[in-house]
Amino acid sequence: MARTDLLTNLIKAGSEKNFDLFVEIAQSIIKEEEFKQHHTLAERLKKALNVTETKKFEFLENQTGVNSDFFTVIKPEIELGELILSNINLQIVSDFLEEYSMKDYLRSNGINPRNKILLVGKPGNGKTSLAEAMAYELAVPLYHVNYEVLINSLLGESLSRIKKLFSSIYNSNCVLFFDEFDTVSKSRGDKNEVGEVKRIVNLLLTNIDKLSSNTILIAATNHPEALDHAMTRRFQITLELDAPSELEIIKYLESYSKRFDIDFLYQFSYLSRMLNNFSFSDLKEFCDSVRRSYFIKLNKNQSLSKKDIKAFIDIIKQSKNFVKAKF
Ligand SMILES: Nc1ncnc2c1ncn2[C@@H]1O[C@H](COP(=O)(O)OP(=O)(O)OP(=O)(O)O)[C@@H](O)[C@H]1O
Ligand SMILES: [Mg+2]
Repeated sequence: MARTDLLTNLIKAGSEKNFDLFVEIAQSIIKEEEFKQHHTLAERLKKALNVTETKKFEFLENQTGVNSDFFTVIKPEIELGELILSNINLQIVSDFLEEYSMKDYLRSNGINPRNKILLVGKPGNGKTSLAEAMAYELAVPLYHVNYEVLINSLLGESLSRIKKLFSSIYNSNCVLFFDEFDTVSKSRGDKNEVGEVKRIVNLLLTNIDKLSSNTILIAATNHPEALDHAMTRRFQITLELDAPSELEIIKYLESYSKRFDIDFLYQFSYLSRMLNNFSFSDLKEFCDSVRRSYFIKLNKNQSLSKKDIKAFIDIIKQSKNFVKAKF
């Protein structure tokens, strides 16, 4: 946006008490100054802006907000920094977030920010958490789509509900989140699928095409191969969230131990080899078990032993094997 437009809009946002727009324009000005290498001025502006997360969320809560039975409105609480992401994934997510925060500036230059991201990966490796963290970083609400309400046994009803869902969020600054996306976006070529699925997918495709770039669409699935190809193509980014590497396990343990002041008794590198093949949610389960036991023992004037730690690992391994064998 030209500087004169930025200033005009900044003043307009202030006089209309549009805090969100005010912050957005102020941030565009800061970015512009950074781009021009005016770092001292950019820093001064950042300090002057002084927008704390609380302030941003207070603003969100004061909004009348969109309400619908078709999704649950979630106030995001996970910070991106709480998640361990590979360097490449972190870069992709940061670029995506930056684009969105500069969406007005980009649009005024004739380019739309990307707004559709597909998260794939095995269970428990952060798809849902990342969707929430992205909403948190952008200080927008997360609308978590409820399929139980959206998809009705009557096809006509499902179609009209999908239309209502999209019209109710029209142009909203939000993250629209379709978890377990394969539930509603199965391949139309699949012979087992009936016409009903095809019509639902067709309608979703049309509505996704019409989505304003103010709305971020995030979909997550453990079964990307089951998704309709035309649907997969709609997403500008597909991000794969893998199970943690040995180094990432160490990072997780270090941060957990620091955050909750828990001593895992073993060296992290040794523990991380024992926790090989664990998902992030298995790791969380393991760490929480250790923490619980630590307090229970503390209450009895006892302390945790290495044997206890090993036992927790075995318990999780056993239930993982059970799930693998049964399902
Ligand atoms: N990258 C990560 N860094 C730190 N913790 C993580 C990460 N990914 C997941 N976790 C932890 O694991 C838990 C489960 O993750 P989450 O529910 O986001 O996984 P998911 O991929 O959505 O799983 P599912 O496919 O079963 O829905 C989270 O609550 C979080 O505590
Ligand atoms: Mg999930």
